[in-house]
Amino acid sequence: MIGGAPAARPDDVGRDAAARPLAGRVVLVTGAGGGLGRVASLACACAGATVVLLGRRVPKLNRVYDAIAALAGEGVGGAVNYPLDLAGATPQDLADLATRIEAQLGRLDGILHCAADFTALTPLAQTDPLAFARSVHVNLGARAWLTQACLPLLARAPRASVVFVVDDAPESVAYRGGYGVAQAAQVALVEMLKAEMASSPVALTLFRPGPMRTPLRAKAYVESDPGRARDPAEHADACVALLAGAAAASDATPA
Ligand SMILES: NC(=O)c1ccc[n+]([C@@H]2O[C@H](COP(=O)([O-])OP(=O)(O)OC[C@H]3O[C@@H](n4cnc5c(N)ncnc54)[C@H](OP(=O)(O)O)[C@@H]3O)[C@@H](O)[C@H]2O)c1
Repeated sequence: MIGGAPAARPDDVGRDAAARPLAGRVVLVTGAGGGLGRVASLACACAGATVVLLGRRVPKLNRVYDAIAALAGEGVGGAVNYPLDLAGATPQDLADLATRIEAQLGRLDGILHCAADFTALTPLAQTDPLAFARSVHVNLGARAWLTQACLPLLARAPRASVVFVVDDAPESVAYRGGYGVAQAAQVALVEMLKAEMASSPVALTLFRPGPMRTPLRAKAYVESDPGRARDPAEHADACVALLAGAAAASDATPA
């Protein structure tokens, strides 16, 4: 891991719970340099967490890292960078990630799955088959593998939470390729995991933010009505609440 923050101390958990609901906790945010990942990472640090920033581009991660470092204040968490391309990461790479988080930070309390691979709205007939497979993998398979790799560590946290951010209520299901297929399949994945882990302390949540003004959406739509898509920052607090286990949502959709 690159960059450092002090390892969270178990006794910090629960202190100042209202103001810093993630005090002393460690959370992993994938796609941390993206639209939602960035603002959610900042909000998690404000809420007291040490945030593991996972993304494929170091400069983007560095900007989020620097923004978190600039927050510095009593009770504000820290960050570490974890550059990784989920398209090529093997199960062993993800097991190594869990091992490194445990070795460096001592615990893992949550994952916010924000990394998303989407190229453009394209009919299947014109879609590069390898791009289709990559999208399915990054948006579904890699999320499943990463969750699987981290489950033993998460299960040792007092109240762990895994949040899958999904985009399964689009204006149209056409032309979304592997990204769209993976959104639908993620709903099935989370339902399956919930059934399997009914007695586990690890909470699993689908979070459906709806349209957001991010680089991902800009690849699909030119906003004629800016009101149709929200600023991702409006969802940052909801991400914190879901990671903290404070939001009662098995299927969270903002009002
Ligand atoms: N935007 C919407 O309208 C909308 C609506 C509903 C749900 N969502 C969901 O919200 C979540 C966040 O999306 P967003 O709109 O914030 O998208 P975004 O701004 O495009 O961010 C996605 C992030 O994922 C990273 N990423 C892509 N491929 C990766 C890979 N192979 N390995 C590691 N990281 C990778 C990107 O890194 P790079 O910057 O390097 O490409 C980027 O930082 C996604 O789960 C998406 O499905 C979005």
